[in-house]
This record gives sequence, C-alpha cells and structure tokens, in this order.
Amino acid sequence: MKHPEYLPEFSIKAQASEKARSACVVVGVIDGSRLSPAARALDEASGGYLSAVLKGGDLGTGVGSTLLLQRVPGVAAERVLLVSLGKAEELNEKNYRSASAAAWRLLRDGGATDALSCLHEADVPGRDVAWRVEQDTLSAADALYRFDAMKSQAKAPAKALKKISFALPQGAGKAGVERALAAAQAIALGVAFAKDLGNTPSNVCTPDHLAEQAKDLAKTYGFKCEVLDRKACEKLGMGSFLSVGKGSDKPPRFIVLRHDGGKKTQKPYVLVGKAITFDAGGISLKPAAEMDEMNYDMSGGGSVLGTFRAIGELGLKLNVVGLIPACENMPDAAANKPGDIVTSMSGQTIEILNTDAEGRLILCDALTYAQRFKPAAVLDMATLTGACVIALGSHPSGLFSDDEALVAQIQSAADAAWDRVWRLPLWDDYQEQLKSNLADMANIGGRPGGSITAACFLARFAKGYPWAHLDIAGTAYVGGREKKGSTGRPVPLLTHFLMDRAQQA
Ligand code: BES
Ligand code: MN
Ligand code: ZN
Repeated sequence: MKHPEYLPEFSIKAQASEKARSACVVVGVIDGSRLSPAARALDEASGGYLSAVLKGGDLGTGVGSTLLLQRVPGVAAERVLLVSLGKAEELNEKNYRSASAAAWRLLRDGGATDALSCLHEADVPGRDVAWRVEQDTLSAADALYRFDAMKSQAKAPAKALKKISFALPQGAGKAGVERALAAAQAIALGVAFAKDLGNTPSNVCTPDHLAEQAKDLAKTYGFKCEVLDRKACEKLGMGSFLSVGKGSDKPPRFIVLRHDGGKKTQKPYVLVGKAITFDAGGISLKPAAEMDEMNYDMSGGGSVLGTFRAIGELGLKLNVVGLIPACENMPDAAANKPGDIVTSMSGQTIEILNTDAEGRLILCDALTYAQRFKPAAVLDMATLTGACVIALGSHPSGLFSDDEALVAQIQSAADAAWDRVWRLPLWDDYQEQLKSNLADMANIGGRPGGSITAACFLARFAKGYPWAHLDIAGTAYVGGREKKGSTGRPVPLLTHFLMDRAQQA
C-alpha cells in the first residue's frame, strides 16, 4: 500500500524554540497577549519583539486567530506563527483543536516546508501532553489531507509541508510522548485510508473494490483475508444480506479480515462494518436531494479497514476480526420489494416493509456469522439511520449497548480519542414496534425512535457475546457540495479501544 504523499514526517525534538532551524515555529497565545513558555523564549531572544507586536493588537483574541511573523530578530527559525487559543478560562478540547486546525490550514497554504510546533504547551484542563500531541498530529493530518484521485489535473502544492516536529516540553517524559505520536501517526494513516475509501465514488468503490483493498491491506500487514462471494454466502444461509444486493449488477462481497496479534487462546474482538457502496433506497427509492452522498453508506466498512490499517501499523498484540458485508442497494426488477419476506442466517424471518432500511438487513447476517469466532466483544459501525442525525447531529456517534462494562470501555476510548459517542437506550420496550403479522419481525419500527428500533432489530441477532452498535450516520462524513467529504470517524475511537484492550491483555 502506498503512503499518502501529503502526510508529513512527524518527530519529537527536545529543542529550544528560539534556536530551532526551522521554516516556522508555531506557538500559542492566550488572552491575546499571554505567551506560552516557548513563545516567551522567542520574545526574550528577540528583545521583546513578540510582545511589542501583540501590543499592537494584530493577533485577534478569538480562538484560531493567527499572525505569521517573518524573520524575527534573534530567532533562528525563518518564521514564527502566533496562534490564539482564546481566553484562559475557556481553554478546552474544542478550542485547542480549533486553534490547531487554524494553524495547520495556514501552514498548508503557505511557504514553509517544515515546522516546529509548540502548541501542545497549552494547558488544556484534564489533558496531558500525550493527548495534546496526538490531537495536534491528527489535526495536521486532517488539514493536509487531499483526495485528488478523481481530478484530471491534480496539483500538489508547490511548497508542501513535509516535516513537522513537536518540541518536547520541559519536564515531559520523551518515551510517553513518542508513544502517543506513534499511535497518532497510525491513526492518521487509518483515518486517511477510511477517508479515501469513503470519498471514492460508488462507480469505482464497489463491493469488489473494497474486497481488493482488504486484500491489499492483508498483504501489507500480514492479515488473513477471505472474501466470500454470493455462492459462499448462499451456502451459509445469508438470505437477508444477499437480498439487498439483488437489485444491483455489482456482485456482493462478504469480507473477513483477521489480525492474529494476540495469544492463540485469547478471544478476538470483532469489528463489523456496514458497507453499502451506494444506497439508492432500492424500490423504496430515496428522494433526489442528497442522494449523491449515499456513496458514504459504506463508511462503517471503511472504518473497519481504516482501523485495521492503524493496528497493522502498530503491530497490536491483540486478536481482531473484521467483518464487512458489502453490496449495493438499487431499484431493479430483481430487487427486494416492500412486503417481501427473507430468511436470515439465524433462521429468523424478516418482512421488508421498506427496502431503504437495508443496513440492518446486511448487518444481521454478519452478526450471526460473528458467533463462530467466540468473540470477546463485537462492535458494529453503520451509517444506519437518518433519525440518528436528527437526534444527535454530527458531533457524537450514537452508542447502543446493554453491556455496561463494554459501554464504559467504549466511552473511555471515545473520550481519549476525542471521537465522541452519546448513549441512547436499547430498551426492550421498543421491540414491539418491530412486530410483523406475517414474519418473525419487520425491518422498520416507524418514525418514533427510529435509530433505537434499528438498534433493537440488530440486538435480535447479536446473541452470545457482548455487543455494541455505533450509528455513525451523522459523524462519518460531512455533506453539502462545498464541504463534502469523509471524516474517517470512528477510526480514532476504534483504534483507541483496541489499544486499551491490548494493554489490558
Ligand atoms: N443509509 C441510510 C441512513 C442514512 C440517512 C445515513 C441519511 C446517512 C444520512 C439508511 O440505509 C436508511 O436509508 N435508513 C432509513 C431507515 C428508514 C427507512 C426506517 C432512514 O433513516 O430514513
Ligand atoms: Mn437505506
Ligand atoms: Zn443505508
């Protein structure tokens, strides 16, 4: 697999800011004038140049205001970038990340080819240097990300930022920060991979394309990869999964990835990802508005592949299985029709009242297939419901699980990764909305609590292991013509979750 050329080389350097021979030193400013330790060192070396400039009021006080200074006297670096972190008492995760993003965006479009960042000196309450360096790394990778595969005249910037180093703050242990940086780089690669898969349009990113990507990943990192075709899925009795792809001319693929990094006796963690490479809705056709975004309906599967890239980079000592049911949901003479009844791999029958509720139809068979691995836990990721976007917007993913220990582990990983989740109920009370007169259940539960009834549907198949479901419909991509693009979420959360489990083992 190729390494994205826009991703810079990252390193940690124990270096005084004023002596660094860098194209740009990046330092934070609080309350419009309070200098971070590195900024103070620059100020002293320059005989008060920085404080004089700040007195002039040229750096705004708003979070993410920037001021680029050239050739500051007494400072070895060619440039100094001042970044406002806003008010001291308001410094939190959100503001830190906004300031960092603003700095990297500016540097992306400027002339510096390398930089030394000291932004992580900022005292974000409750967050250590490791967290700050990880977030700064991910926000740099995010700002520098490019997807040019579909442009006839891709233009890489003439002066690209190629090297980023982080100054080791006084008193910080190098080993811990190095570890955080290594994890962040692995996550950045995984996120970039998930973004590429999401951003690849559905005429290219087909189920077969995903399977080829999985094989490529397996070859690079030594995973085992098996791709089940329609016939193999028929043999397994995956009648629900196969019914969804019937209306498409792209054959379905059920991708199985294995990373055997732990002891043979250790139960694996299983990641299941919905991969509808295009969701037209089927015969229950979607309206035209925003249908162009339905290539992102494979983002759950993409996040599994992205996470495998991250754990492959890290050589994680843990057994992990990835399951990706991949197909396309199209209207056609052969497609599912409202009222059709299918038999899932579990033997349970499903009345398909709406062919657009197809994600649960492919996930249910994957959840049954997962049982053969005797999992330590199963996590599924899916752009499952528009209702989740209505409930939570685009900041947290919806988390559904009745396993309190697993919920706590996921919440903790989500918080550490700052790839947040919000728990919604999975109460049995909602199950009756799925009643069908003719089959064991219907595939929709009406408008009230739409993302909850979807999760309740999955719960009927996730038997025999601890299980959690993440609805990522609002978090996996950004919509709208201007900003359209994959976010790579929840790769950071999943990687942190697995790193934590490896640590425990
Ligand atoms: N892939 C969609 C969910 C979705 C909608 C993701 C909007 C991202 C943005 C899913 O397959 C779907 O169509 N769900 C239906 C379910 C309904 C028919 C019960 C929905 O949410 O409208
Ligand atoms: Mn749908
Ligand atoms: Zn869908």
